[in-house]
Amino acid sequence: MARILIVDDQEMMRDSLAATLARAGHEVVAANDGPVAVTRLGTTRFDLMITDLKMPKMTGLELLGEAKRLRAEMPVVVMTAFATVNTAVEAMKMGAYDYIQKPFDGDEIRLLVERTLEHNRLIRENQALRTMAEMNGPRPMVGSSVVMTEVKEKIELVAKSNVTVLVTGASGTGKEVVARLLHAQSERSERPMLAVNCAALSENLLESELFGHEKGAFTGADRMRRGRFELADGGTLLLDEVSEIPTGLQAKLLRVLQESQFERVGSSLTQQVDVRVVATTNRNLVAAVGEGKFRQDLYYRLNVVPIELPALSQRLEDIPELSRHFLHQIAKRDKSVFRHIESDAVRVMQRYGWPGNVRELQNIIERACVLEREPGVIRSATIEPWLRGTMSPAAAAGDLAGHPLAMIEKQVIMSTLEKFKGHRIKTATALGIGVRTLGMKLKKWREEEEVAAVSV
Ligand SMILES: Nc1ncnc2c1ncn2[C@@H]1O[C@H](COP(=O)(O)OP(=O)(O)OP(=O)(O)O)[C@@H](O)[C@H]1O
Ligand SMILES: [Mg+2]
Repeated sequence: MARILIVDDQEMMRDSLAATLARAGHEVVAANDGPVAVTRLGTTRFDLMITDLKMPKMTGLELLGEAKRLRAEMPVVVMTAFATVNTAVEAMKMGAYDYIQKPFDGDEIRLLVERTLEHNRLIRENQALRTMAEMNGPRPMVGSSVVMTEVKEKIELVAKSNVTVLVTGASGTGKEVVARLLHAQSERSERPMLAVNCAALSENLLESELFGHEKGAFTGADRMRRGRFELADGGTLLLDEVSEIPTGLQAKLLRVLQESQFERVGSSLTQQVDVRVVATTNRNLVAAVGEGKFRQDLYYRLNVVPIELPALSQRLEDIPELSRHFLHQIAKRDKSVFRHIESDAVRVMQRYGWPGNVRELQNIIERACVLEREPGVIRSATIEPWLRGTMSPAAAAGDLAGHPLAMIEKQVIMSTLEKFKGHRIKTATALGIGVRTLGMKLKKWREEEEVAAVSV
């Protein structure tokens, strides 16, 4: 059971959604506009927020921004009408977990809610476990696609040096796997590797976590504590989600990167350490620099060697190998028989969009091993229902065969609009139709949707 906040200005929508989710066993709170939702978020912890985009008083995007500020760890799903698909894409860039298009039925939203909650739970579990066990040993990096081969070659090249590496990529693409490999293949491998998640702590806590503090440095500091930079001396420090490091700490981080020097909080004694830093981010740091949120000099200092991990949907050819790898792992761990994957099941997986990337694939395989009734295999019938909705771009293009032309037309137009970020002239030019024609079609669909949304 989860606590879910629903935000929509349309009463009917709100009520039916609340009823559906309450029937699924969740505790539901409904708000009829953004400001009410913000008040609720300020006082209560929710496991998930589902919000409409077009609302008076405060738009869904503004609300999303507030939610990210107040409850960074809470996943947000946005509801969108066809006409606001571009805004939904914008919302995803701002950190929404997913979007669902109106009108939708009860099963669709229930499935999305379960998937979102499960994904978020795994992320949090991962973070918690990591702080307990620290970085115990490397994990193999599987994948022979061209991009992954290049990544592996790059790791091998830079592992032995002491340069700072910035690993970028969406959530679940394997940034931590890369960081561990860099450490394992370096001459520091016998020394400790530690990690700090820069997004998980307040500025004060993060400062003392990184640099340590003296006894009495602040209320509650009843004894001296060494920070991660000291503890990782001679080894490697992973700075996870480095984009989230508060501005107040950026200068201090820059200094330790440049001079290997810092002071514990509450001390004037300078510490000298030898630490190799690997940083990760799933945000665009260049944009953060542009917005003045991230120091440019720090960005250059971190980005000495960039390693970029592509989304799993960009390397679908790695899926069979990755799946086999996870199946072997599970068989070994559970001392169970190795399951083969039906070729149909592989095809289903290669058509899916994998917003949670390799972590999501691992999760699906794990679930399949538990729920598959047929011994020794994993059938497409078992996993197919879990992989509906998000389609890989390649699959989306090939999926048009056998559908009504009108639907195909709408799909092509909407995805072209999305590609050009809502720019109608560019969209019309690319599709070889007039801007007026495009405008008329959009207007017609919008009206159809308004009717449909009311009748949900
Ligand atoms: N190439 C790969 N081969 C084998 N396992 C992988 C690979 N990439 C990722 N994994 C596995 O997928 C899971 C997620 O990977 P990882 O934690 O490195 O992602 P991440 O990019 O750090 O994600 P986040 O941004 O959410 O922290 C891990 O269990 C990891 O072992
Ligand atoms: Mg990570």
